[in-house]
Amino acid sequence: MSAQNILLIGAPGSGKGTQALKLVNQKKGAHLSTGDLFRNHIKQKTDLGLLAKSYIDKGQLVPDQITNDMAEDFVKKVSQETGIIFDGFPRNISQAEALKVILTQNRRQLHKVIFLEISDRQVIERLTGRLYAPKSGLVYHTKNKPPKKQGICDVSGEALITRPDDTEEVIQSRLNVFHQETRPLLDYYKKKELLHVVNANRSPEEVFHSIISKE
Ligand code: AP5
Repeated sequence: MSAQNILLIGAPGSGKGTQALKLVNQKKGAHLSTGDLFRNHIKQKTDLGLLAKSYIDKGQLVPDQITNDMAEDFVKKVSQETGIIFDGFPRNISQAEALKVILTQNRRQLHKVIFLEISDRQVIERLTGRLYAPKSGLVYHTKNKPPKKQGICDVSGEALITRPDDTEEVIQSRLNVFHQETRPLLDYYKKKELLHVVNANRSPEEVFHSIISKE
């Protein structure tokens, strides 16, 4: 199959990162996670990281121009033969318009948009149990996907942490942003006949199977 550019849209905790890693492995694609890129900047204490942190800690979106520039920089560096899995970018109409320009300038197009549908209640349950490995980027869950050894990443052996934005208060704010700013993208991509809705309230394997079947 030719290199596909796939966008995953979903509420916080809907499983975008989990499914993006599966897609990247299967398709040998590149993974553009704006959340991961911001967290790397925060870890390295760059100016961008400091700025991003002030928004992320409150569950707000980082300003569009900064996010769009970072995404553009990523896309430019990926070879034409490699597809890109977009995870968490775009998150509003203005970013979607920017992505359109970025893709055109890089002789690419979006092949499909997957909306991972999940209830707010499920989001809170997932995120309050999430464990994260900052170096490997792998994600676990205290109940649904526990690591083999408590508190330790199966692959890198590093200590697992709780993301600072996974407190109930910040999760609620992220959910509000999702409903107000990101949901309008569903209509936007539906009109472009790119949208596929997947029930994300199933096991990661079942969700992945549904995503793949939307070819
Ligand atoms: P980001 O890191 O993208 O966070 P998010 O969108 O809130 O999504 P999450 O990473 O929390 O969840 P996910 O959907 O990837 O789920 P996961 O697979 O981890 O962004 C963080 C912040 O950065 C934003 O709030 C914003 O401030 C900023 N930002 C990022 N992009 C931006 C942009 N474009 N513009 C402006 N600002 C931006 O799964 C969650 C948990 O559930 C895990 O524990 C996992 O093991 C478990 N799980 C996953 N799938 C299943 C399943 N099927 N069944 C049971 N458990 C499951």
